Amino acid sequence: MRRPLIAGNWKMNTDASTCLALARGVVAGSMGVEDRDVLVAPPFPLLPLVKRELEGSRVFLAGQNMHWEEKGAFTGEVSAQMLLSVGCTHVVLGHSERRNLFGESDEVINLKVERALIKGLVPILCVGERLEERDSGKTLEVIEAQLNGCTSCLGKGRDGIPEFIVAYEPVWAIGTGRNATPEQAQEVHAFIREYIKERFSDPVAEGLRILYGGSVTPANIDGLMAQPDVDGVLVGGASLAIDSFTRIINFQAQGQRV
Ligand code: PGA
Repeated sequence: MRRPLIAGNWKMNTDASTCLALARGVVAGSMGVEDRDVLVAPPFPLLPLVKRELEGSRVFLAGQNMHWEEKGAFTGEVSAQMLLSVGCTHVVLGHSERRNLFGESDEVINLKVERALIKGLVPILCVGERLEERDSGKTLEVIEAQLNGCTSCLGKGRDGIPEFIVAYEPVWAIGTGRNATPEQAQEVHAFIREYIKERFSDPVAEGLRILYGGSVTPANIDGLMAQPDVDGVLVGGASLAIDSFTRIINFQAQGQRV
């Protein structure tokens, strides 16, 4: 059984004082939750502060991005080693805001995935179609192309690969209040799992956690988590308010997941 993962992506929000209150709230809100993982991805400069606040809890820490080189003259960039050294276990890669606002290509994201795996950070690889691609029936084609491009570092047909996580985030659902329906999410998640099964093996596919992201709220979390291939969520806006994120962490397992 895959362990659900509830991840909060704080994006370029919070500052030194608000992030502490939020981190404290996440620790309190996930207290006693044993059957699922919780993770937060604060902005880079706040990672050490948040880490201190998470000490003694089971909440994981992630970077929102990183550079693919080990170190060097890359002004403004952050390396995998830096993330590890402040307590990160995971890193979000290929978020649609990185792709669309900062021009990240599948090739660059693939280099980042490779470096993260070499260094022992678990990549949370984001994929997702734009509205016009969904409307023209190209969703699965786009997802497959992104998976091909961003995971070519993994090679093909291997029985075992290091842990990585995929987040399906339809671009049209991010920050828009228009979430994918549980059925739309399930369709793409099942497709991703099948892709991984064909490319690697049954056990790799069965063990892969696939998160949904895009306007997740307390109102839609239970329906999403009831889908057999939805193994968690990557939450933006609703992770910034402690009440709503606490409710999302404490989603009610229903249907086939129970
Ligand atoms: P949202 O963002 O929950 O605000 O739609 C999700 C994300 O970008 O990961």
